[in-house]
Amino acid sequence: MMVAAAANPLPRHVAITMDGNGRWAKTRGLARIAGHKAGLTPVRMCISECGKRGISALTLFAFSSENWSRPAEEVGSLMGLFVESLEREIAELHAQGVRMRFIGERRHLPVRLQARIAAAEERTANNQGLKLQVAVSYGGRWDIVQAAQALARECSIGALRPEDITEERFSQSLALAGVADADLVIRTGGEQRISNFLLWNLAYAELYFTPKLWPDFALTDFDDALAFFSNRERRFGRVS
Ligand code: FPP
Repeated sequence: MMVAAAANPLPRHVAITMDGNGRWAKTRGLARIAGHKAGLTPVRMCISECGKRGISALTLFAFSSENWSRPAEEVGSLMGLFVESLEREIAELHAQGVRMRFIGERRHLPVRLQARIAAAEERTANNQGLKLQVAVSYGGRWDIVQAAQALARECSIGALRPEDITEERFSQSLALAGVADADLVIRTGGEQRISNFLLWNLAYAELYFTPKLWPDFALTDFDDALAFFSNRERRFGRVS
């Protein structure tokens, strides 16, 4: 008897640590920034594929709190790349119905990048398609601390009681408020670490690691990651 295959579930929220740009450039005798530029191709692919497949959220780790300690030249080039790519891509993202947000410690960013970010968020705020979060100057611990500070401020003025701080209420103060928890985290570049990415929001995520360097991450690799997810049994601490 033929048994219908169970529908392969798609993740609602995919989060990606895009690692390996520097090594990709080095093997070609290029400057590291050339690797970051080449990393834009898989960024476009993932955004468009998530949109096409009806995945509701995508979060990309573009620059961590720790990345500020890289050489000034690389940091400056990366900030320039963020500004340029936002200028160039925002019309297309808007046309795709993408709602774009940036998460991270914004006040540390160059003023012209802050302005581009504000403009991109405002322009796409009412879009109903993919929720795209770009993490820049982001750290999972920073996010938890800023949420704790916001809640403590509310308590200190009497607007909130400590006993009313539930997991739900806490989540609403995090950078990803309103976005479902990550179901699938992909990390390229061979390291098998979280490296201070979405600590709270990946509590139950499936973790997919691949040695592929980010600029080489192709559609077939994205398909492999989704197939890995669909084959996992997710129990959230319960029994089968
Ligand atoms: C990590 O590779 C990658 C980064 C720090 C930058 C990622 C940024 C992009 C791909 C550009 C995306 C832009 C937008 C607007 C989303 P690495 O430099 O740590 O590589 P390595 O481990 O080989 O040195």
